[in-house]
Amino acid sequence: MAVQLDGRIALVTGASRGIGEAVARRLAAAGATVALASRDAADVEAIAAELGGPHRGFALDVASTGSVEACVGRVCAEVGVPHVLVNNAGINRIGPTEAMSDEDWQAVLDVNLTGVFRMCRAVGARMLDEGRGSIVNIASIIGTGAGMPWRGPYGASKAGVVGLTQVLGAEWMGRGVRVNALLPGPVMTDMVRGMIERGAVSERNVVDRTPAGRFGAVDDVADAVLLLAADESAFITGQAIAVDGGYTQWAASHEASRPFGG
Ligand SMILES: NC(=O)c1ccc[n+]([C@@H]2O[C@H](COP(=O)([O-])OP(=O)(O)OC[C@H]3O[C@@H](n4cnc5c(N)ncnc54)[C@H](O)[C@@H]3O)[C@@H](O)[C@H]2O)c1
Repeated sequence: MAVQLDGRIALVTGASRGIGEAVARRLAAAGATVALASRDAADVEAIAAELGGPHRGFALDVASTGSVEACVGRVCAEVGVPHVLVNNAGINRIGPTEAMSDEDWQAVLDVNLTGVFRMCRAVGARMLDEGRGSIVNIASIIGTGAGMPWRGPYGASKAGVVGLTQVLGAEWMGRGVRVNALLPGPVMTDMVRGMIERGAVSERNVVDRTPAGRFGAVDDVADAVLLLAADESAFITGQAIAVDGGYTQWAASHEASRPFGG
């Protein structure tokens, strides 16, 4: 039996490309009406138009409380109160932590952590009024299961998202709203391609270091979002689930153990 979301409304942040776009397309394919939101309003409007049907694109800057309130107000008025919220919008600033500026630290925390809080507050309040909802926060294995150099603010922000997810999972479950987090490992998107080009990520090392023998695909994450969004996961809340091809579970060094062929 395929997981379906017929009759449900989903709001996906950062849906203009990468993981967020794949999530929006996956939820739409499962029958949901999707509100795609991003800084890049023209891009999400174009994707919504391409999807056709009732799907809509909305401008959103999760770093601004005013923008979050305006976007969520419009989505609720023009599409309906979301049954599903996917907090996917995220940024990164990479560099040695001892040289990290306050501005870079603050920018990452403001989008990745406070942005998730702002969205949970705005959409969660309306979901609680309705007595139903599922929120999926896209965190990362970085800061929650894997230390990766040069990602101080990013790791801190993602660990914060997991902390918020655990608290809200306990706080809101009794009122019908579930909150979970996914922790993707390296997924080949524009964000990661940019890092490979700048030498901040080694493609070869990631492939060698991952038991699955490949980068994650955006659809690996989208499929996991679908499960957490749907009633099939009705008893799961407050959890942080890795989608990483075994990356964080492989403790043996590459030299000491080569169980994956090669
Ligand atoms: N790609 C990976 O390897 C990977 C791994 C783990 C976690 N993640 C997380 O997955 C999410 C998506 O990553 P991606 O690789 O697809 O990134 P991406 O850079 O390709 O896309 C990010 C999206 O977020 C939007 N966005 C950024 N700042 C925003 C803001 N202030 N307000 C609204 N929208 C904003 C962008 O417009 C874009 O749509 C992020 O939270 C990221 O941290 C990615």
